[in-house]
Amino acid sequence: MVSIISTVNMKGGVGKTTLTVNLATCLAQYQRKRVLVLDLDAQISATLSLMAPQDFAQLRKKRRTLSYLLENALQPNPYSKLDISDIICPAIGGVEGLELLPGDIELYDEYLVSEKLHQDAQAAGSLEFERVWNQFEGRLIRQILEPVQDEYDFIILDCAPGYNLLTRSAIAASDFYLLPARPEPLSVVGMQLLERRIIKLKESHRASEGELNINLLGVVFILSGGNLLSRYYNQVMRRVQNDFQPEQIFSQSIPMDVNVAKAVDSFMPVVSAMPQTQGSKAFVKLTEEFLQKIARYQSLNSPRQ
Ligand SMILES: Nc1ncnc2c1ncn2[C@@H]1O[C@H](COP(=O)(O)OP(=O)(O)OP(=O)(O)O)[C@@H](O)[C@H]1O
Ligand SMILES: [Mg+2]
Repeated sequence: MVSIISTVNMKGGVGKTTLTVNLATCLAQYQRKRVLVLDLDAQISATLSLMAPQDFAQLRKKRRTLSYLLENALQPNPYSKLDISDIICPAIGGVEGLELLPGDIELYDEYLVSEKLHQDAQAAGSLEFERVWNQFEGRLIRQILEPVQDEYDFIILDCAPGYNLLTRSAIAASDFYLLPARPEPLSVVGMQLLERRIIKLKESHRASEGELNINLLGVVFILSGGNLLSRYYNQVMRRVQNDFQPEQIFSQSIPMDVNVAKAVDSFMPVVSAMPQTQGSKAFVKLTEEFLQKIARYQSLNSPRQ
């Protein structure tokens, strides 16, 4: 069965995209899993970490990006020519089993979304706006993925910083979320804010759409050089450990390694481009821990023999 995972943190630049693309590549390349990456950020960082800009430009010209599917979800077009499987790019970077649904710099028109939901709410009675909104949000990403989701072991959704419609819709469609974070005070605040928002999201969806069954798979610490030894950063990490269950924090962290950033130039994640580097080795070990955490959840939820 597929597991859908959102990589999310309201704070920008903490390593969400880097974690998404390296984890996805490790799962496909080293663990032989079938993995789909969805780029939900208009910065298209995940897309450009996995393919050359000129290849992306070609796809965009042919409208083969996520924005085509979002537009269709917003205003269903019976003559629409492409479906999700036409848009997904297979064997990304030559890695069998690694697939990408490319993002777009213009994902959706906020004005159109508000107008459509307002009209739908009016048609359903003016008190229905919140329910109509929650329903749309709860179904948007889920509907897009439904036709292909059984073809994968993992679908990883790379969310934008902040907390926009697509992030909420991704969370609503996911079984788990990953929370990459730097052990810094503002980052800790960001984690607490996100946790609160997810609790609120669950409450508002419970009333309209039914229970959201999403769990934090784990916090992944991204550590700057020497941080491991730093008393201060250890103190901040302890604060996080007080806020979460021990199993909600990955014991494997990711070191800052310039090769991780440099790999983007080769349109490949570091684990493919430079597998012998410190950063790559950390991602490989993190992937093993990721699979153990997923297996633990699956065994807890599987019916007893
Ligand atoms: N372990 C690492 N070592 C070195 N550089 C890293 C590492 N992780 C991320 N970076 C670099 O830090 C920058 C931010 O990382 P990334 O884009 O993954 O963060 P993000 O949380 O997705 O950002 P945004 O919020 O803008 O989407 C990038 O330039 C990336 O190459
Ligand atoms: Mg990003």
